[in-house]
Amino acid sequence: MYGIIDIRSCLAIVLLVLPQAAHSQQASPDRSRSMDKLWGDRVVKLRAENAQRGQLFDEGNYAMFIHWGLYSQLGNKVDGKTYYGIGEWIMNPRMAGIPVERYKELAGTFNPVDFDAQEITRIATDAGMKYIVITAKHHDGFAMYHSQACDFNIVDATPWKKDPMKELAAACREAGLGFGFYYSHNQDWTFPGGGGGPKFDAQGNPATFDDYFVNKCLPQVKEITTEYGPIEIVWFDTPGKMPKQYVEQLVQVVHTNQPRAMVSGRAGHGLGDYQTLGDMEVPRHNIDGLWESVDTTNDSWAYAWYDEYWKSPQEILRRLIACVGRGGTYMLNIGPRGDGTVPQRAVKTLKESGDWIRRYPQVVYGTEASPWEHALPWGDVTRKGNTLFLCVMEWPTSGKLYLPNLSTPIASARLLDGERTQPLAATRRGDWVVVEVPPRAPEKLVSVIELKLKAEPQVDPIWSLDPDHETEILAEFAEVAGIEKSEKRWMEKFGEWKGIVHAHGFDNGGEATWEIDVLQPGDYNIDLTYAGEGRLVWQVAVEGGEQIQNQQNSSHNYQAFPIGWVNFPQAGRYKVSVRCLEGQVESASLKSIRFAPAH
Ligand code: GLC
Repeated sequence: MYGIIDIRSCLAIVLLVLPQAAHSQQASPDRSRSMDKLWGDRVVKLRAENAQRGQLFDEGNYAMFIHWGLYSQLGNKVDGKTYYGIGEWIMNPRMAGIPVERYKELAGTFNPVDFDAQEITRIATDAGMKYIVITAKHHDGFAMYHSQACDFNIVDATPWKKDPMKELAAACREAGLGFGFYYSHNQDWTFPGGGGGPKFDAQGNPATFDDYFVNKCLPQVKEITTEYGPIEIVWFDTPGKMPKQYVEQLVQVVHTNQPRAMVSGRAGHGLGDYQTLGDMEVPRHNIDGLWESVDTTNDSWAYAWYDEYWKSPQEILRRLIACVGRGGTYMLNIGPRGDGTVPQRAVKTLKESGDWIRRYPQVVYGTEASPWEHALPWGDVTRKGNTLFLCVMEWPTSGKLYLPNLSTPIASARLLDGERTQPLAATRRGDWVVVEVPPRAPEKLVSVIELKLKAEPQVDPIWSLDPDHETEILAEFAEVAGIEKSEKRWMEKFGEWKGIVHAHGFDNGGEATWEIDVLQPGDYNIDLTYAGEGRLVWQVAVEGGEQIQNQQNSSHNYQAFPIGWVNFPQAGRYKVSVRCLEGQVESASLKSIRFAPAH
């Protein structure tokens, strides 16, 4: 019902092999923070060789992920047929289902003559990224470095015979970037005994996970943590049902060989040093502790020939700022081709967003979560101490930018425009702050207003209706009574994850309720975004006020439908509730409510 793959089988995959929104783990990086020292140049120039453990992760906030392997050579096409989905899974039965021996033959033609480590570090540096994490071995079991433990590797098995990881590690050091490895520790589809791999060895004897672990996984993790200089991160993935004792050994190897390195949340059993969210997941509310989101510049992680759906520079910045604004780190992936080159559109879009970061480094590096705890109708906010960076993506045409429920006195407001700045007036309207802004946005992508406060920000994070912009409030933020609220993750193409928190189970007669704050009294046009079957009748009620209802169609994709206008007669707080009254009520799945000023 929700995309090409049944949601139940998706959940099964999540549980067995694909990453779960992860095991939260607080790391203890040695962070002797001093706000003064962090400010300005030092943060901007934060370089791998000077950073303390976890510092590039925690303060750099932005990294490059690279999926590159034998699969990149196929680019999702096998025997003339294109498979749609994440390219590094091409040999899996869920994609092309390539038999092990045939897949291994691909090494004979893997010849990435155009791989250029310097070029890759240049792309990452231009993008404003602080470290690189690249696939040392993905689920296909092929080592992209010179492994002594297994000859299915890029030096011993290909005509190219070079170790690109030596070059990349060196190039990163030279460029002042951190360097790290992705390593698929549980799944290995070509080594006997590996997760999802052959059940028998070459002699026909049954192979166990222990055989794989002792003969390949553990020695390889020792190799990647000893042969490539200082490593920032070892990024384990998809632990599945791997027993704890194995994960413990791997984590110990990493921490012993690389005391500065962090272990990803997907190591399993809560043994990672930080939390890794689900694939492509940008959270909607602040999350405490150290965590990261992993995302990709188009739809697939590894190169796929057809995949030209690129995130625009603004979308990259929106997602990066959302992650930093929720308190985390953003790692964005590129998938080089089999010949080693990086698709130009990825380079271009990363460069353009990177140019913006170079103009506003203080917004991204060394900053913390927004005191509003979620995005705002016009953009998002990052914070450093008592300074807030208002990142405006939808510039207000009214000349006023509204900051709801910020009670701290304002010291100053200025519009940043590269090197130039322009002082702005900030006035108070009740608990709100109104910043007077010029009619035109200075930046095409994201304009930045620096707001200095006289003390620590005091914000009531209640959702508030912006007088000028549409305000969309997710079901995730609703209180529910007599219905359910739960997370739903599904795939569009195979491996392309989407996720929401939805309100459902309206057939019990219950409701979703949001408390909202209104500054500007008047009529607001209400839309509901939902999925379902057939025509549905929805009711929207304001506690102690108007109640409207309307019938609209539905579809299995989430879509916004207008319900009607409601009036908020004066400024203040209201409770707004939504019910589904008629139609196939049990199918109704509510994602969000939207309020647009009707003037
Ligand atoms: C999942 C997929 C994998 C991809 C990773 C990126 O674990 O199995 O192919 O490497 O997500 O986060």
